[in-house]
Amino acid sequence: MADGPTVGFSSFSLPSSGVLVVFCDDGLKLGPATRRLLGPATTLVARAAAADRFKGKSGSSLDLVAPGDLKVARLVVVGCGKPADMKRKDFVKLGGAAMGKIPSSAASATILAELPNKAMTAEQAADLGLGVRLRGYRFDRYKTKPKEGEEKPAALKIDIGVADVARTRSAWQARSALADSVLLARDLINEPANVLYPVEFARRAAALKRLGVAVDVLDVPAMKRLGMNALVGVGQGSAHESRTVIMRWNGGKKDAAPVAFIGKGVCFDTGGISIKPAANMEDMKGDMAGAACVVGVMQALAARKAKVNAIGAIGLVENMPDGSAQRPGDIVKTMSGQTIEIINTDAEGRLVLADVLHYVNTKHKPRLMIDLATLTGAIMVALGQDYAGLFANDDKLADRLVKAGQATGERVWRMPLGPEYDKMIDSKFADMKNTGGRWGGSITAAQLLARFVGKTPWAHLDIAGTALGSPQTETNKSWSAGWGVQLLDRLVEDYYEK
Ligand code: BES
Ligand code: MN
Ligand code: ZN
Repeated sequence: MADGPTVGFSSFSLPSSGVLVVFCDDGLKLGPATRRLLGPATTLVARAAAADRFKGKSGSSLDLVAPGDLKVARLVVVGCGKPADMKRKDFVKLGGAAMGKIPSSAASATILAELPNKAMTAEQAADLGLGVRLRGYRFDRYKTKPKEGEEKPAALKIDIGVADVARTRSAWQARSALADSVLLARDLINEPANVLYPVEFARRAAALKRLGVAVDVLDVPAMKRLGMNALVGVGQGSAHESRTVIMRWNGGKKDAAPVAFIGKGVCFDTGGISIKPAANMEDMKGDMAGAACVVGVMQALAARKAKVNAIGAIGLVENMPDGSAQRPGDIVKTMSGQTIEIINTDAEGRLVLADVLHYVNTKHKPRLMIDLATLTGAIMVALGQDYAGLFANDDKLADRLVKAGQATGERVWRMPLGPEYDKMIDSKFADMKNTGGRWGGSITAAQLLARFVGKTPWAHLDIAGTALGSPQTETNKSWSAGWGVQLLDRLVEDYYEK
């Protein structure tokens, strides 16, 4: 894989080759250090802007090839609109926009982290670097030949010019850990299911041990002993064995109850005996995006040594049709003792989560649980691809998720829960059935999960719309955005670290 750009920081200076990126506001104003470094080329920028009707609006840019007075191959001026309005996430976006203007043929680029009125703070420059890394990601490890007429791009080195190198480098540690973690989640989601099956996924999660995360893997006999028959039932038609992985990061006070993240890890979802139609079924290699996000968040917390106790738990299965696959009409007994009648074997995610939620709740007594799952096509019908569905039994937790979503741009929209919906999954033969019919499909799915969380504050994020075939943004050009890693990292940072 082309590993994406490497990012480093140094004090403001003029490069003698490569690409130079600078920022201006919507009055075409450049920062003082930028003007000083550009010297006579400053007038060139003004002339080119007039010629190209460039106004410095946020996201727009001006491209000068082989600019006179400068040794660089290219000078790019990126507009940042009104810098006074810029929030943390806007610096990430700006970094992505800057990275997007660097041609793939470039081997090196310098970005001057200066706003028109003043140098960016260490945090802002580090956020800029985060955006650069997110935008620079490509998943091309299975491409063996370069495109027609395109050289395989060289390793790109990005130098970000800053006012305070030492402070920026220290702010960069957490941002760089976050970038690694988002990219890890994207890699896991983009991997095909012949490579990333439950055992292999578990192996990759176990790599978090190097950061001091405790990792336990439950195999099928262990899960059967615990009575996790709903999860095991989903995987029983697959040649690949199921696994549950529990990761623990202890960065908080000893004995403080952990926050817990639970992920749906269906490495491939054919639908099982209730098989899916062929169109777009290949996307179901990403039906483990919830689990990928959980691994990403655990890595981010450990790498930045977050002062929190956190559990990450993922249920890893492959949902296949086979002679030993489960059937519609089958009834399984979950670890909680409650029974579920399988109406549709394609409603498998909730079966996996039912057992993992109960396991985490009873074994780890968490202060809260948040699950992430590509759970229903219905959430895409309701919300499209820009908001994930949020279901919660706790208003405070829901509000915090909404706020963290606004702060990071990984936004969530709250959906209802209630007894009217709950009764839609009562079954003739068992305690409940695994589908509630077409209407309110995301809600009845959430109601099933709600039956496995006891009284613990809990939120469920249905990420079927946001995680796969993600909207193309300044910080993501990949099929998967690694949605949720930034959201949960920020949630912990803003509310659960002491
Ligand atoms: N993994 C799918 C949901 C999904 C669909 C995610 C499209 C991403 C894109 C899930 O397991 C599923 O099949 N859900 C069914 C539930 C139904 C059978 C009640 C669905 O949404 O159709
Ligand atoms: Mn399914
Ligand atoms: Zn699924």
